[in-house]
Amino acid sequence: MTEQKKILRALAGETLPTPPIWMMRQAGRYLPEYRATRAQAGDFLSLCYNSELAAEVTLQPIRRYGFDAAILFADILLLPQALGVDLWFETGEGPRMSTTTTPAELAALKDKDAIHEVLNPVYETVRILSRELPLETTLIGFAGAPWTVATYMIAGRGTKDQGPAHALKAADRATFQGIIDLLTDATVEYLSKQIEAGAEVVKLFDSWAGSLKGQDFDDFALEPAKKIIAALKERHPGIPVIAFPREAGERYVGFAKATGADCVAVDNSVTAEWVAENVQIDGCVQGNLASHHMVTGGQALVDETRRIVKALSNGPHIFNLGHGITPDADPENVKLMIDTVRASA
Ligand code: CP3
Repeated sequence: MTEQKKILRALAGETLPTPPIWMMRQAGRYLPEYRATRAQAGDFLSLCYNSELAAEVTLQPIRRYGFDAAILFADILLLPQALGVDLWFETGEGPRMSTTTTPAELAALKDKDAIHEVLNPVYETVRILSRELPLETTLIGFAGAPWTVATYMIAGRGTKDQGPAHALKAADRATFQGIIDLLTDATVEYLSKQIEAGAEVVKLFDSWAGSLKGQDFDDFALEPAKKIIAALKERHPGIPVIAFPREAGERYVGFAKATGADCVAVDNSVTAEWVAENVQIDGCVQGNLASHHMVTGGQALVDETRRIVKALSNGPHIFNLGHGITPDADPENVKLMIDTVRASA
């Protein structure tokens, strides 16, 4: 049965008549059923650590739309929390955490092997999902890439330009590198456990890769991804990995080859035609519909969806957005996107 899952076939390099489809943040606030379950759980983090409810919200978009993949409901910031960082979410503002910027603060973090105590409920969510998902649906696990997670740990919050992380990189390279190395090693342990629990694919979210330029991109986006992917593939031969170095621009070129990723996810700052010529030549790509179409809908959504499907139709492709769906999206537009993709053969 596994061989027939469309997502796995695309990840193995097959060009399918219509691309399989899923959507970043597909379990989220645009769905009334998500908002109801989240209210039942209390806050967002309680939902992440409640395995039954986290599995429930993961399944909601599968039931409603029949996506080809389900993505585990969790967050990239659970890993630093498991390493000992204090994490909370300010309503309407986003994540806040205790900062890690000094050698002493880095040394106070836990060992990579000590993360599972906190993260066990996440693995339990994966186990529930691998029992409950339809046979044709692929289960995707994920983690944040070290650089992106480090930007939150160093600043203690989200930042527009990742200034604090760039500043620490310049002022105290050893501590900065120490944070990256700890996250690289801990991410291997975290994703390995997700795979053992039943994740069939894993994705690395490097949402802020675009602010790394030149050698920094090699050192802190490419190199950690390469290490993580090599370690995962050694432990779990054949496990497919999707890498998402968001806003990498021209650095998307060759990223799969350089890191060993099976698929590169692209945002919508590059055109599908450019992606076909420069990225898809190396294997599967995923993306790149602008999320605002999920808010605005209409003929523009249909036209843009068709254009992307056509541009990427000569190679392996997983249809997705260029970034997560936003809370103001209309669930009807998601349906329109899926119908358009599936009617595109
Ligand atoms: O894609 C999915 O549906 C799987 C679950 C998932 C979430 N976050 C759930 C979530 C995934 C893969 C993430 C990744 C994530 N989390 C990233 C990388 C991808 C990206 O979007 O760039 C980042 C940077 C985070 C950190 C994070 N989590 C932020 C900055 C926020 C606040 C912004 C917001 O949208 O509110 C979150 C919260 C969060 N993570 C929500 C969800 C569904 C919203 C929480 C709520 O219900 O209020």
